[in-house]
Amino acid sequence: MLTEYIDSIERAAHIIRAGGLVAFPTETVFGIGADATNSDAVKRLFAAKGRPGNNPLIVHLDDAAHWSRAASDLSDVARVMLDCFSPGPLTVVLPKKETISELVTAGLETVGVRVPALPIAREILRSAAVPVAAPSANQSGRPSGTTWKAVAEDLDGRIDAIFTADSSSIGIESTVVDCSAGTPLVLRPGAITLEQLQKIVPQTRELQADEKSEMTASGRQVNSPGILHPHYQPRAKVMMVDLPQKELTGEQSKDAAYCGLDVFDGVESFPCIKVFDSIDDYAAGFYEFLREVDRQAIERVFVQTAPEHGIGFALRDRQRRACGG
Ligand code: TXA
Ligand code: MG
Repeated sequence: MLTEYIDSIERAAHIIRAGGLVAFPTETVFGIGADATNSDAVKRLFAAKGRPGNNPLIVHLDDAAHWSRAASDLSDVARVMLDCFSPGPLTVVLPKKETISELVTAGLETVGVRVPALPIAREILRSAAVPVAAPSANQSGRPSGTTWKAVAEDLDGRIDAIFTADSSSIGIESTVVDCSAGTPLVLRPGAITLEQLQKIVPQTRELQADEKSEMTASGRQVNSPGILHPHYQPRAKVMMVDLPQKELTGEQSKDAAYCGLDVFDGVESFPCIKVFDSIDDYAAGFYEFLREVDRQAIERVFVQTAPEHGIGFALRDRQRRACGG
């Protein structure tokens, strides 16, 4: 397949409406969009990404007021969360509407719904006028694409078009909150923190490690199977380090890369380093750095453990997964 490189909102929307696959930017990461009501398109989307069929996709809308295009019901809690954080880096899991393809939701009764904040994304969604299923734009298991060139590396020849736009500003995927029953449950941390959510809905809590299986104690199906698959992994071996740490100098630094917020003695001898000015910059540049390490065929990368505040909490979650668990 010949992939078109485009910068026209109308063209992107047209391809999606016609059942094609278009990578487009959002403020979190780039997504690969397909019409969520078209099972053939969604099937091709899973194939293009090499994504396991039991990992559901998020449905993207241009406006939270259009929630009923994807979901069959909106609880008060979900409404309040959407009012406060949409458009933005939040996905709410709601009861599924029957017109959404079952492939999108991997057979679940629920659907993840998100309204991205990036104007280009919203314009494409508005123009497409269909609910758009969009996973992160990367080969399944790899670091998410936060630049159109990274998307091209993984998906050129596998999807119909790539929208060439600026890098994603947040760089970490949306916070996923299950609002489909009872207490809201954070399934995946993101730029919207647990504390922010609890200010709006105090009973919101985080999914615990022992719940990341089939059922919670209440019998509620948590089932965010995505959290169980390998994710965000470059070819290089990733190791988290707390600095300052002497062992990073000397022998280990040969043919290794480093990224983090702090510099330390000896870091100059690493063939590939990136020191970020802030935790937000670190989150925004993390996946792209992992990809750069692979481009340079470096086999090991040390990543400074992210501080656990703000987006650092979500970044640390991605770092752990990039390490392989
Ligand atoms: O920021 C984002 O969310 C990006 C951009 C493109 O919007 N998208 C994204 O999609 O990260 P993806 O497919 O890489 O991750 C979707 C996550 C997975 O962990 C999946 O299991 C979860 O959302 N998810 C989707 N639908 C769900 C549902 N019905 N119930 C529970 N989890 C769901
Ligand atoms: Mg993903």
